[in-house]
Amino acid sequence: MVIDSKFLNLFIKATEKAAIGASKFVGKKDKAAADKGAVDPMRAELNKIEMDGRVVIGEGEMDEAPMLYIGEKLGVSKDPKLDIAVDPLEGTKFTANNEPNAFSVLAVTNRGNLLSAPDTYMEKIAIGDQLPKNLLDIDNGVEKNIKILAEAKNKKISDLKVCVLKRPRHDQIVKILMNMSVKINYITDGDIAGVLSVVGKNPKNDIYYSTGGGPEGVLAAAALSCYGGQIQGRLVLNNEEKNRAKKLGITNFEQKYNIDDMIKGDVIFCASGVTNGDLAEGVQDLGNKFKVTTFALHKSKKINKIFTNIYKK
Ligand code: FBP
Repeated sequence: MVIDSKFLNLFIKATEKAAIGASKFVGKKDKAAADKGAVDPMRAELNKIEMDGRVVIGEGEMDEAPMLYIGEKLGVSKDPKLDIAVDPLEGTKFTANNEPNAFSVLAVTNRGNLLSAPDTYMEKIAIGDQLPKNLLDIDNGVEKNIKILAEAKNKKISDLKVCVLKRPRHDQIVKILMNMSVKINYITDGDIAGVLSVVGKNPKNDIYYSTGGGPEGVLAAAALSCYGGQIQGRLVLNNEEKNRAKKLGITNFEQKYNIDDMIKGDVIFCASGVTNGDLAEGVQDLGNKFKVTTFALHKSKKINKIFTNIYKK
């Protein structure tokens, strides 16, 4: 079943209102306020939509997040039944410090078509389109995966570009990549954009290889699925997180999720820039109005486009 195209603009409006909300906190060194600045208007917009919406990836689980928590119902109708993944502000640090690549993002599918993952870490490897299905496997290890990818892309290993989230937990991955003379492009935060750097007209990277947020993994998978890209993820869970995962129906804590396990069928994906970034330009304050830019995908309609909208203050 496809998602009616009338919904695209409504979801774009939700991320755009969230982006405007967060933009008021750009450079203000307050991550929590910036996040709340995005959450409230996104929730208000989503609640106007004629749908039976349900948050499956949210700001946290019910007992820990006041709004847009996993399981929260959204919308004003009994149909259609939609599942929604939200990250009202991806890049809270970028926003607080006035750095590029902060955006408001969501993904929408029909009911049951998105993995509901707890807000924990996820190991991720992502690659672009036109490659054999399930080419790589986290358990292969870095060296083997890089060799397989080089062969599949018919490239020299030293020509491969790998996106890595700069964190001490990735020192071992980096060491292996350096020994193999692979080019490493680091990001300091924001791994949805990191994953999406492996697709598009001129992909910046051949592979994303890091552990980041689980919710961000599912959101990135939703977008990647519109390009025919691939991702494999595995949740990283301590004992307390295993209990939280169980509540979301996850029983196999070692499961490796391929893209089809994270996202099925039609999807709408919207990312509205808060600060300028790889996916969209940031919110511009034009005095009595805001100009907002959104990168939007609608899989079944083959929409892959930048939208620009003006909002009166
Ligand atoms: P927030 O904007 O929610 O802080 O997330 C930013 C981010 O960089 C994500 O893109 C990434 O998945 C995660 O944080 C990584 O977490 P950590 O900073 O704990 O390594």
